[in-house]
Amino acid sequence: MTYKIAVLPGDGIGSEITDQAQRVLSALGLDLKLSSAPVGGAAYDAHGHPLPPSTLELAQASDAILFGAVGDWKYDNLARELRPEQAILGLRKALGLFANFRPAILYPQLANASSLKPEIVAGLDILIVRELTGDIYFGQPRGTRVAQDGPFKGERQGFDTMHYAESEVRRIAHVAFQAAQKRQKRLCSVDKANVLETSQFWRDIVISVAAEYPDVELSHMYVDNAAMQLVRAPKEFDVIVTGNLFGDILSDEAAMLTGSIGMLPSASLNASNQGLYEPSHGSAPDIAGKNIANPLATILSAAMLLRYSLNEEAQAARVEAAVQAVLEQGLRTADIFEEGSTKVSTSEMGDAVLKALE
Ligand code: IPM
Ligand code: MG
Repeated sequence: MTYKIAVLPGDGIGSEITDQAQRVLSALGLDLKLSSAPVGGAAYDAHGHPLPPSTLELAQASDAILFGAVGDWKYDNLARELRPEQAILGLRKALGLFANFRPAILYPQLANASSLKPEIVAGLDILIVRELTGDIYFGQPRGTRVAQDGPFKGERQGFDTMHYAESEVRRIAHVAFQAAQKRQKRLCSVDKANVLETSQFWRDIVISVAAEYPDVELSHMYVDNAAMQLVRAPKEFDVIVTGNLFGDILSDEAAMLTGSIGMLPSASLNASNQGLYEPSHGSAPDIAGKNIANPLATILSAAMLLRYSLNEEAQAARVEAAVQAVLEQGLRTADIFEEGSTKVSTSEMGDAVLKALE
C-alpha cells in the first residue's frame, strides 16, 4: 500500500524544516509518495492565491499533509482573503480538520529552556485538544455594518459570531475523552460559561458526553483562570479541551512554558484520520535561508503523521526515539543552545536524526 503525502513547505523557514522531515520519512523503508506544492505567500507569488486549487486538490487526494509554516511581513498589506494565514484556515475548513492536538512537553534534556522555575515545569507533559473548524473563527455573519440600536446606534461597527452546534461539541469532546483515556485520564474543559451562552452550551454537552467515559475525571475551568493556572501550576493539567479561539491563545501559552517552541509538533485531524501535521512555531522569516532553524518540531510532526494518519505506531515511536537520542547526544540548534552543548545547523540536525534512526 502506497501512502500519499502532500508536502506544503510554505514560507520563511518552511522548506528548510520540511526538507529534513522528508528525509526522515523517506529513510523509514515505507512505501511513500511525497508530492510538494506551494502554499501561503509562496503560492500567492506563484499563483496569485495562498491556497490555489492545485494545492488544495493535492491535499485532498493525500492521506496526510506535512505542512511547514506560512507568513511573511511582506504580505501584511494584502487583503485578508489573500494573506498567507488564509491557506491554513482554508485547508482546515476544506478538509474538515476539526480536531487539533497540541502537545506541550518539556524534554528533560531542555529543562533550563523554560522561563519558569524548573520545579514548576520539569516533566511537563500536557495535551491541548483544540476544536479547529468552528467558533468565532468561522461563524457567520461577520463583517462591518452600521449599528442599528444600542448606545452606538448609527456608528460603524465590526462584528463576528461565536457559535457551536451540538454535534460539533460532541465530536471534539469524544476525541478529547479518548485522548485522556490513553494518558492520565484527566480532562479539563475550558470555557467562559460565566459570560458566554456558547460556552454554557459547550459545557452542558461536554458533561453529557462524559457519561460515556466514567474512567476519565472531568473538570471545567474558565479560560481566564486556565491562563493563570497554566503558569502557576501547569503540571496539574493532563488534557485540556477547548474551543477554537481559546485554544489558539492557550496553546501558545502552553508552548511557551516549555521554552522551546522549536520542539513542539501538532496534528489536525478529520473524521477519517486524514490529517495536517505542522510545527507549532511559525515561519520565522528573519532566519529563513540561513540553515539555522530547528527542524525537530517538524520531524516530530512527521512522527504524529505516522501515528495518526498512517497508523504506523512503531515507526512513529522510532522517529521520536531518534529525536530523544540526538538531544541526549547534546546536539542543539541555536534556539535551544546552551553552554556545554554542541551547536548544529538545520541540516546537521537532520543528519543526526537520520543516523540515530539506523
Ligand atoms: C495557529 C495560528 C492560526 C490560528 C493563524 C495563523 C490563522 O495562530 O495555528 O494557532 O489562529 O489558528
Ligand atoms: Mg495560534
